[in-house]
Amino acid sequence: MTDLWWKSAVVYQIYPRSFADADGDGMGDLRGIIDHLDHLAGLGVDVIWLSPIYPSPQDDNGYDISDYQDIEPVFGTLEIFDELLAGVHARGMKLIMDLVVNHSSDEHKWFLESRAGKDSPKRDWYWWQPAREGLEPGTPGAEPTNWGSVFGGSAWELDEKTGEYYLHLFSKKQPDLNWENPEVRSAVYEMMNWWLDRGIDGFRMDVINMISKVVPLPDGRLTAGSLYGDGSAGFINGPRIHEFLQEMHREVFAGRDAMLTVGEMPGVTVDEAKLFTDPARGEVDMVFQFDHVWADRGDDPWLLMPLQLTNLKAIFNRWQAGLAEVGWNSLYWNNHDQPRAVSRYGDDSAAYRVASAKMLGTVLHLHRGTPYIYQGEELGMTNYPFRTIDEFRDIEALGQYAQAVDLEGRSPDEVLTVLRARGRDNARTPMQWNATAHAGFTTGTPWLAANPNYPEINAEAARADPDSVYHYYRKLADLRHTEPAVVDGDFTMLLPNHEQLYAYTRRLDNTELLVIGNFSGDSVRAEVDEAWSGADLLLTNLPEAPEDWTLAPWQAVIYKRSLG
Ligand code: NOJ
Repeated sequence: MTDLWWKSAVVYQIYPRSFADADGDGMGDLRGIIDHLDHLAGLGVDVIWLSPIYPSPQDDNGYDISDYQDIEPVFGTLEIFDELLAGVHARGMKLIMDLVVNHSSDEHKWFLESRAGKDSPKRDWYWWQPAREGLEPGTPGAEPTNWGSVFGGSAWELDEKTGEYYLHLFSKKQPDLNWENPEVRSAVYEMMNWWLDRGIDGFRMDVINMISKVVPLPDGRLTAGSLYGDGSAGFINGPRIHEFLQEMHREVFAGRDAMLTVGEMPGVTVDEAKLFTDPARGEVDMVFQFDHVWADRGDDPWLLMPLQLTNLKAIFNRWQAGLAEVGWNSLYWNNHDQPRAVSRYGDDSAAYRVASAKMLGTVLHLHRGTPYIYQGEELGMTNYPFRTIDEFRDIEALGQYAQAVDLEGRSPDEVLTVLRARGRDNARTPMQWNATAHAGFTTGTPWLAANPNYPEINAEAARADPDSVYHYYRKLADLRHTEPAVVDGDFTMLLPNHEQLYAYTRRLDNTELLVIGNFSGDSVRAEVDEAWSGADLLLTNLPEAPEDWTLAPWQAVIYKRSLG
């Protein structure tokens, strides 16, 4: 039988630039991670996922890789990496790496060779195309397709030397690799095997459902007011995606034991995810879907939409039901691309920050699936109080701002309001370790300023306080490790039309769990089946248990009962 150990695992994501800086240059590094491994072991973490640590010009903070088989010197060396891996394993944890192979850096030797000339043996490793028929290269509209890049501007960059364009779905320093070319695929598999042979335990795969493109690349749909077409139908879950992932599985993972593979898949549907994660098909163990983090987004990207809890519940319910029999869910609120959940779906005011952070953790972790914690989430870290666009460092925020304000004529205030709430730099401010300067992240000048609330919100204070978010997250991890119904129980959503309460049950054999979270600042009474009176309260995030099923603001509860 396949070993599905990751069903009972808790994963913790580290964004190395922002985690801990041991040498004072203002950037996090591997030595800094080594210094803090006990913080993670103490939290009950089973697996660490490292965002990219490879050599990189850092155009997109390491998601632009110029050498897949080495370590970025700012972060350390392969020797220090081996030390880190040994430290992780010695504490009974595993380590997975970020695999970024939809694109490389434009400074990767593969791309340098590819761009050297039309007859380069590696020309076809990337997507090179001439100007649109009848148009001169470099003239408006001459790009091979009308696709916009995720970071603003066209997805095509003209290379003056050959007069051809190359495709970059992200920044122009992130050219897309051409997976149609079998040499590209075998070079990637060889690299993956090299890391696994070194002892790592799997991969998180960056935008992996974009590697198969529709050939020939088609124009995308143009909507009123937008400068570029939406090319997603040409590259999301493309025609050969399952074939490529199955080939990768055969060439890399088959025959190895106990790996974890998780594919990041923007725009993936439940039906597709079922295929991707069916163990019998040999593709990936689980996917990151985006529906629940896009729940507060409307058609207009520059309009903030308040969260409707009924909508969020409908999304989770669809995913829980869809992958109930076949496949597996990943569970997350936060990562390095999302704003802080407590500021987004909770309440980060002094009165409710801790309660709502714990409530969000409870509701998420008790679903069926593997939970992911993003650095600082276990402290209830919040969004940063950005004032001006100059405080942002993220290429996405800066690129989208330029497109929206300079080219589309949006008002700077309108755009800033959304970036403040949703911008990725909210997640990337330094990890808050203690109350000393820069949150104890660095003795130098941090590459991005620490959130000014660090004197109060930091790991040292959290570890010393038995009522902190940190110790509560530890209890959630313990529950997953000790209560089989958390891992394998069936999921049933309750109160789907309630706008304040999120409630569901998990059932395995004779054990049933009831989870309720109050997503509001009001006291709210839950209409609960009589059968639950007398059930054991396993966990709540507030000092007092609810009376008569009335949950205090942002309260969460987990009850357990035995069925006769
Ligand atoms: C998804 C990553 O999570 C994000 O940070 C990055 O910018 C893009 N993929 C491009 O690699």
